[in-house]
Amino acid sequence: MTLDDILTLIGGRIHELDLVRAPRELYEPVDYCLKNGGKRMRPAMTLLACQMFGGDIEKAIPPAIGLELFHNFTLMHDDIMDNAPIRRGKPAVHTKWNANTAILSGDVMFALAGEFMTKVDDTHLRQVMEEYHKVVIEVCDGQQLDMNFEQRSEVSLPEYVEMIRLKTAVLPAACLKMGAIVAGAAPDDQNHIYRFGECIGLAFQLKDDWLDVFGDEAKFGKKSGGDILANKKTWLYIKALELASDTQRQTLLSAYANQISDPDQKIRTVKNLFLELKVDQLCVKQMEHWYEKAFNHLDQITATESEKVNLRALARMLFDREI
Ligand code: IPE
Ligand code: IPE
Ligand code: MG
Ligand code: MG
Ligand code: MG
Repeated sequence: MTLDDILTLIGGRIHELDLVRAPRELYEPVDYCLKNGGKRMRPAMTLLACQMFGGDIEKAIPPAIGLELFHNFTLMHDDIMDNAPIRRGKPAVHTKWNANTAILSGDVMFALAGEFMTKVDDTHLRQVMEEYHKVVIEVCDGQQLDMNFEQRSEVSLPEYVEMIRLKTAVLPAACLKMGAIVAGAAPDDQNHIYRFGECIGLAFQLKDDWLDVFGDEAKFGKKSGGDILANKKTWLYIKALELASDTQRQTLLSAYANQISDPDQKIRTVKNLFLELKVDQLCVKQMEHWYEKAFNHLDQITATESEKVNLRALARMLFDREI
């Protein structure tokens, strides 16, 4: 199957899920969150890895759905934590309903995710569940670091990389590894595909930081400048502080110390500074650095080049993405 076939397959399977039951107030937001678009790159990764290692794609579908449910659950809670009103171009669950709804619907969604994860062959069950709980805990660790960093004026680049590795990169890594596990891939191959996903995931978060400031709000589907308003320590911010002159440094620090009361003005000021310092371009260069590392791992996997083309195509799509 090609990448497009896989995306169509998993999109269809997710769309067909019958999630709404009583009490509807609990499940309707789950259905709304899961089915309102999204790239579906994580479940696609599980299926692609499974196919690359010669496994039965059908057997990878339940864990792939479980991982997408987990991802969507994190978004539901993340939007409360980040005070983000819009997700995939529509009101976030806590905006459409309220925070309590997003908390409990998120909780049940997380449990539904776990239920799907158990639907693998018994021979793989223990490893799948261990890998799943590991990634869940790491994403929580990363989210907490992200929140901690909001309160600090300075964060080092290594600290940032570790934070995004946890909050974002380990999930695509685990999604790929799950597909490899279900296909019965060798341990070395499981490790390389994990590291491939982790490197792609690091670049993915850099692009997310970039799109938050420079993306087209209508396409990206999230409120532009949201990270700046939340004082997020993004790659752009950290690199800008590193390169700034004394005056530029003062401007940036005071903007992030909430010295500019008008939100649009705060976004404009910070964005202009990023452009002056060209950190937007440097961010793309840094993405290339992670891609090189990613492809080194892909090269070491024991599969043919033609079996690897789909993963290369997915990587390219994510690099160039506008959504
Ligand atoms: C958003 O992930 C959360 C991040 C890790 C940046 P995606 O950009 O993959 O979100 P969807 O599922 O495609 O909407
Ligand atoms: C994504 O971080 C990490 C998780 C949701 C776990 P962001 O907060 O940057 O994601 P978006 O931009 O809201 O999608
Ligand atoms: Mg967040
Ligand atoms: Mg967020
Ligand atoms: Mg973001």
